[in-house]
Amino acid sequence: MVDSLKKPGVEEMRAGTKVPAKETLLTPRFYTTDFDEMARMDLSVNEDELRAIVQEFRADYNRHHFVRDAQFEQSWDHIDGETRKLFVEFLERSCTAEFSGFLLYKELGRRLKDKNPLLAEGFNLMSRDEARHAGFLNKALSDFNLSLDLGFLTKSRSYTFFKPKFIFYATYLSEKIGYWRYITIYRNLEANPSHEIYPIFRWFENWCQDENRHGDFFDAVMRAQPQTLNDWRARLWCRFFLLSVFATMYLNDIQRNDFYETLGLNTREFEYEVIDKTNKTAGRVFPVMLNTDHPDFYKRLEVCVKNNEKLGEIANSNTPKPLQFLQKLPYYASSAWQILRLYLIKPIDAASNHGVVR
Ligand SMILES: [Fe+2]
Ligand SMILES: [Fe+2]
Repeated sequence: MVDSLKKPGVEEMRAGTKVPAKETLLTPRFYTTDFDEMARMDLSVNEDELRAIVQEFRADYNRHHFVRDAQFEQSWDHIDGETRKLFVEFLERSCTAEFSGFLLYKELGRRLKDKNPLLAEGFNLMSRDEARHAGFLNKALSDFNLSLDLGFLTKSRSYTFFKPKFIFYATYLSEKIGYWRYITIYRNLEANPSHEIYPIFRWFENWCQDENRHGDFFDAVMRAQPQTLNDWRARLWCRFFLLSVFATMYLNDIQRNDFYETLGLNTREFEYEVIDKTNKTAGRVFPVMLNTDHPDFYKRLEVCVKNNEKLGEIANSNTPKPLQFLQKLPYYASSAWQILRLYLIKPIDAASNHGVVR
C-alpha cells in the first residue's frame, strides 16, 4: 500500500519500487564505448603505474566497510515532507550514478578480458566497488520504504556512446568530483554533527577513497595514452569536459539548495570548494584547468540558474506544450550563450607545471 505521508511525491512502478527519475540533460548518464579500440590500446609507457594501482585495488581496503550496523535500525519517518523528498532524490541520483559506473566498468572488464587483461582487471575491480556503493545506497532507500529496480534501469535507460578518450575524460572527472563531494560532505558533518540526519554520511570517508583510487586509475590510463593529453585537441576537449561537469553539478545542486542546507552546508560555498579542488586535481593530468576565479565564471553560471528556474516554471504551468516550447526557447538560447562564453574564457595552462606539481 502506498503511504503518501511517508513518500510525498514519490511515484512507484510497483509497491516499494520507485519509478526512475525522468532522464534530462542534468541526470546521471549511462555510457557505452568502442570496446575494440580500447582493447587495442598499448599501455606500455605507463604500465608500471597501472600495475601498482591494480595491485591496490586487489588489496581491497574497503572489503568490510559497506556493512550496515545498528545505527540504521530505527524508523526514519521523522524525516518527512520536503526534506524526505529531497533526501530520497539524493539517494536515487547517487545510486544511479554509482550503478552507471558499475555497468560500464563491468562491461569493459568482460569485453577486454582476453585482449587487454591488465585494463580488464582494473575495470572488474572498480565494478566491484561501484556495485557495493550502489547496493549500499539502494539499501538506504529501503529505509524510506523504496528501492530502485536496477535491472529495469539497465534495460530502460538510453546509453551515450563515447569514444574511449572521452570515456577517460568523463569518468576521470566524475570519479574525482565524486571524491571531493563525498569528502567535503563528510568533513562538514564531522564538524557539525547536529546536521547529520541519517548515518550514511559516516561511510563517506572510506568510500571516497575508492573514488579517489578510481580517478587515479584513469589518470594512469591517460598517461599511458599521451595523445589523449598533449595536443591542441586534448586542450579543447579537456576544457569542454571540465566545464560540462562543473556546470552540470552547479545547476543540479543549486536547484536542490534546501537539501545541502539541511546538511548544514552553504550550497554555493560547497560548489566553490568542490569545483576548485576538482579543477586543481585535474590540472595534475589535464593540460589545462579552468579559470574559475574569472569574475564572469560564477556570474554566468548564475544566469543559467535563473534560466533553469524559468524553464521549471514554464514546464509546471498549464500552458499547452507547443506554446511552452516557444516560451522556453529564449531561456535555452540564453543558457547556451552563457556556456559558450564560459567555454571561451581563457583557461590556465597546467601542462607546464606537470613536472613540478606531482
Ligand atoms: Fe562509487
Ligand atoms: Fe568510482
